[in-house]
Amino acid sequence: MAGRIPDQFIDELLARTDLADVVSSRISLKKTGQNYSALCPFHNEKSPSFSLNPNKQFYYCFGCGAGGNAISFVMEHDHVDFVDAIETLAKDACMEVPREQGAPDRYEQNAELLKRLSESSQFYQKQLTQHPDKKKATDYLSKDRGLSGQIAKVFGLGYAPSGWDNLLKKVGTRAESQEQLLLGGMLIEKKDQPGHYYDRFRDRIIFPIRDSRGRVIAFGGRAFGDEKPKYLNSPETPVFQKSQELYGLFEAKQNTPILDQIIVVEGYMDVIVLAQHGITNAVATLGTSVNSQHIRKLFKLVSKVVLCFDGDKAGRSAAIRGLEASLPVMQDEKQVRFLFLPEGEDPDSLVRKEGKEAFNLRLEDASSLSHVLFDHARNQVTLGDEEGEAQFARNAMEMIKQIPKELTFRSVLIRQLSDQSGIDSETLGNTVFKTRRQHSPTIEEHESAPQNNTQNLPHYDGDSPDLSHYEYEPSNGDYDDFHHGDYPPTTQTKTQGSFKKPFGKKSFSKGKFYHEEPALPPAAPSLSRVKQSSLCLLLHPHIAKEIDLPDPLVNQANEELQIFCKIWRYFAKHPNKNTGHLLGETTDKATISSIYALLNHQDATTKQKITNAQQEVLDMVSALEKNLGLNSSIARLKNKGNESIKDSSSKQELRNLMDLIRQKKH
Ligand code: UTP
Ligand code: MN
Repeated sequence: MAGRIPDQFIDELLARTDLADVVSSRISLKKTGQNYSALCPFHNEKSPSFSLNPNKQFYYCFGCGAGGNAISFVMEHDHVDFVDAIETLAKDACMEVPREQGAPDRYEQNAELLKRLSESSQFYQKQLTQHPDKKKATDYLSKDRGLSGQIAKVFGLGYAPSGWDNLLKKVGTRAESQEQLLLGGMLIEKKDQPGHYYDRFRDRIIFPIRDSRGRVIAFGGRAFGDEKPKYLNSPETPVFQKSQELYGLFEAKQNTPILDQIIVVEGYMDVIVLAQHGITNAVATLGTSVNSQHIRKLFKLVSKVVLCFDGDKAGRSAAIRGLEASLPVMQDEKQVRFLFLPEGEDPDSLVRKEGKEAFNLRLEDASSLSHVLFDHARNQVTLGDEEGEAQFARNAMEMIKQIPKELTFRSVLIRQLSDQSGIDSETLGNTVFKTRRQHSPTIEEHESAPQNNTQNLPHYDGDSPDLSHYEYEPSNGDYDDFHHGDYPPTTQTKTQGSFKKPFGKKSFSKGKFYHEEPALPPAAPSLSRVKQSSLCLLLHPHIAKEIDLPDPLVNQANEELQIFCKIWRYFAKHPNKNTGHLLGETTDKATISSIYALLNHQDATTKQKITNAQQEVLDMVSALEKNLGLNSSIARLKNKGNESIKDSSSKQELRNLMDLIRQKKH
């Protein structure tokens, strides 16, 4: 990780930054009295509910609840992470971002390589407009594929002319740059002449693959005709791990005004053609099937992910892999949906045929995860009797058990399964699956583990942890490898690949779910538990009224806890007010700055991030109570699971218990 940015610098930067400038350079603001108002950029609306208070340097949307300061605005608006937002603001303020000592990150280490890749991309783009044979490429793009010059530019498409050393001669002029190009997979060493190289990409249309910050990290090259492979891709390099990247993510973030969902498709062309038709929020996996890391990465940006599959059998089994990948990373308030296209169509062909509106209708109609899950569990059943029913329930439970235990979503599915199978939820929940190891440790287990320090994880791409130290076994649907130009193609085809391991009882017993990728320990929260709970309240004020704070807690002198109590008291008293109101009405400077500090914390990126706010706060309160020696049955109640707290009788029971405890204390 590049060194930490000192807090002092962030304070200084905020002091020098005017929120109104930051916002007005991105959306149009109207002065209304002391404040400004605007159409909220974070949700769709017709009349303005976004308000900015220049004195407090705080914005708040009364429609969707988005709120914060200059940093959070840039993060949410530009879809960048905390560090990038700081860098953007610092640039505007002509300040240099200082870093505390730390190891350089993957990108700093590979700065030279990235430079060469960027030059390569520019070289290929230039060939598209300047090379004597450019017509071959431009005709292909415009006539055969119907792409506009503008969309080609947005995606940085290029042309690698035929010949063995075009790139080598232009970008690899020095020994060092040749070395970097080799490292980046752009050159291949001649077998019989060590130290001599030739261009990997020849006579192809070039698709630069950018990381989520827009840096070119690899390339895909499409043949003009039926040559094999159809797509040649960069090999894995120090800056490119194909299973972690999503083609088009950077462009989607750049070009989608309100990025609230992302569509995952199969191909480069699908992404580009959809974008040309105004559907700018599509991304593609890079010849691999969608995995949990992809979903996790997307959930950091949006709350809805639509996985798009062909309507044929290969598409169906790819969808099952998508389902498997989604289950362990599901979160409440997030959804994964499945769109099955008509047989023989891909998004490219379909959007051309039907247009944007029809495609959007299909998206709206996409199947829910539970639908696909139950459908699949049903399809696996071979018997038509009670045993078949049991088989169905077992199949479904196998999958449901992959969903993190604490999610309401999991309880909902168990209840649905109970309705469908007539087996009560408890029995379902207790079904033991000997063949499968249990899900990754809970946060508590993880916290008590000895080497719990996520801060030591290498920083990669600002979001997902670097998994390179895990052994990664490519999934079955990965057909990039055998299409790869440098290996002789095997007889295996995409369809055969998909069918080789049909999803069924056998694959269950092999623990297939876990072969796709390692189970990750959840990241430890970097905020203290009390602060995290305060943040939960700030972002989800309505939960305050569901939470009871026993007096002994309220009377604690601990500063963090006092802030928490203040926030709680305000929202419990004013259940319809929000953080904007709280800040407006608070006069105590220390409290205000603590609240800002929380809202500015990098964990507060989006409110969707906190998926289980109420439970989190309840857990924190009950942990504190335990510390106070107020042991209670709350823990027991809580252990019953999230859903039990949500129903009102349990809530009442919880309250009664708390009352009892309080009475005992006095
Ligand atoms: P498709 O074969 O479905 O390609 O591969 P497509 O996107 O429809 O391409 P066009 O329309 O024929 O140009 C989907 C994706 O699989 C990977 C690429 O990422 C491609 O976009 N792929 C496919 C390869 O990596 N190599 C191949 O040889 C074929
Ligand atoms: Mn296609």
